[in-house]
Amino acid sequence: MKIRIAFFDSGIGGLSVLHRALKILPHEKFIFFADEDHVPYGTKSREEVLNFTDSAFKFLTSRNVKAIVVACNTATSAAVREMRARYSIPIIGMEPAVKKALELFPRQKILVIATPITIHGDKLHQLIDRYDSEHRTELLALPKLVDFAERQEFASIAVKKYLEDQFAAFNFENFGAIVLGCTHFNYFKDVLREILPSRMKFVDGSDGTINELIRQLGTNLIIGGSDSNSDSQVEFYFSERPVVESKDLNRIKKFLERLDSMEKIE
Ligand code: DGL
Repeated sequence: MKIRIAFFDSGIGGLSVLHRALKILPHEKFIFFADEDHVPYGTKSREEVLNFTDSAFKFLTSRNVKAIVVACNTATSAAVREMRARYSIPIIGMEPAVKKALELFPRQKILVIATPITIHGDKLHQLIDRYDSEHRTELLALPKLVDFAERQEFASIAVKKYLEDQFAAFNFENFGAIVLGCTHFNYFKDVLREILPSRMKFVDGSDGTINELIRQLGTNLIIGGSDSNSDSQVEFYFSERPVVESKDLNRIKKFLERLDSMEKIE
């Protein structure tokens, strides 16, 4: 029987989606695959990302998982279409939550921040063409945030300065929201909150992605049952290596703890 649901990301960004899944689906069991050997994806070529994603899919499908959530906007942009053609299990991709932000803030502008692959990819431009007839969306690639997140540098002077420099060209007067279009960016909500006007709200695609997972799995989901919070609820892999050393497990724990505090910031 297929038991686990896989979450895949280039690195620890996807933990922000898993973090929500653990709350919404507490009785499910998961595999979390962070491609730590190849992170970051967003500054590499689309072909490289396609190959890394395919290797991860080969590994995950060999573990007999019941679905794969691509908890990475970049891999979704570069590879999800090909993965759907190559693999027959349910595949849930992730796109910047542009539609949600436009609907929630019907008269204001929105800023989408993501990696260069996502910002320049056709997928995002098609999404914007489809839903933003009034041209209310602005785009900004923030490639350095992924490296900062991977080395657990979140609210440092360097991070703040980087963001201030990148935002310097924007006049945020008419902006209602910022879309976190990369799963690594959820770790920076406190520093972003300090820099951006309080009127600008955060919008991300985690809950939408999990709702789509629930829709696709339907009766294959565990709705009730035994207590879930056992140690084995999530099997972690860094690339194809099981994460077993306490220093690595502690690193993951620290990320999840930071996500607990970021979740409260609006
Ligand atoms: N976390 C990923 C995303 O959502 C990509 C980060 C990267 O490796 O560049 O886009």
